[in-house]
Amino acid sequence: MTKAFVVGHPIKHSRSPLIHGHWLKEYGLVGSYERIDVAPADFPAFLKTFANQGFAGGNVTIPHKEAAFLGVERRTERAERLRAVNTLWVENGVLWGDNTDVLGFMAHLDQSLGTAWEQDVDTALVIGAGGAARAIVAGLQDRPIRRILVANRTASKAEELVRDLKSPGPSLEVVPWENLGAALEKSGLIVNTTSLGMTGQPPLLLDLAKAPARAIVADIVYVPLLTPLLAAATARDLRIVDGLGMLLHQAVPGFARWFGVTPQVTPELRALIVADIEG
Ligand code: ATR
Repeated sequence: MTKAFVVGHPIKHSRSPLIHGHWLKEYGLVGSYERIDVAPADFPAFLKTFANQGFAGGNVTIPHKEAAFLGVERRTERAERLRAVNTLWVENGVLWGDNTDVLGFMAHLDQSLGTAWEQDVDTALVIGAGGAARAIVAGLQDRPIRRILVANRTASKAEELVRDLKSPGPSLEVVPWENLGAALEKSGLIVNTTSLGMTGQPPLLLDLAKAPARAIVADIVYVPLLTPLLAAATARDLRIVDGLGMLLHQAVPGFARWFGVTPQVTPELRALIVADIEG
């Protein structure tokens, strides 16, 4: 029986077991996927011993993504670039790490909008400069868009992101937080990667009246599913991309590695997670 895990601290709210459990059932596989709570001090030892406990690999979540990056023996190019690992597996005795958040966000955009969305986007605006923002910028850099703007409350973090992720692809520029409104007017794709808009947090206040008529508005927050930002975008008839899809799609590559079947993100899976969020 193949066993996989999601490791974090705390971990009890993770929805990953629901996602992987659904796929195990759907594809008739004999396997398990469990939550494991590991405190930061114990994480390096966990990395060295999970294989001996019979696990094929697992997902890594807050606060261990950077420690996982440092602790693995080999990394994919994406993980190397982002300096964060969210997926672990052992191959020929070697501990590997990948970052599937990049693929998760891009696969979700493509599936929600069709790949032609790129034709409407000259400039993309990424709000926030944390780990999720890095993954999204890295994904967008592989696409034929001209410019990526990054705005963050703490400017130094946006500057650091731009320094770390400079590439020959689209130009990457910092926009001062106070100039978000002006940046919005030029942006065909607007992505919130901050926690603003999450249940219990203040909303992200953007005047979407200034956004281009064909703009796409994406949020990585998925509780609630329709964030105040996405509700405002809907009211303006803009195309929206919600945060749940990224969570679902980032799970695909790990499942494929551990269990040997590439799973599909289906409406049934979405409905299952939506029911959990709303329940
Ligand atoms: P993640 O890995 O999910 O991206 P993170 O690294 O903690 O999480 O990043 C959180 C992001 O949300 C940061 O860009 C943070 O801005 P700061 O760098 O200024 O802290 C942003 N954020 C969180 N709360 C915010 C708030 N009240 N207003 C504006 N930005 C906020």
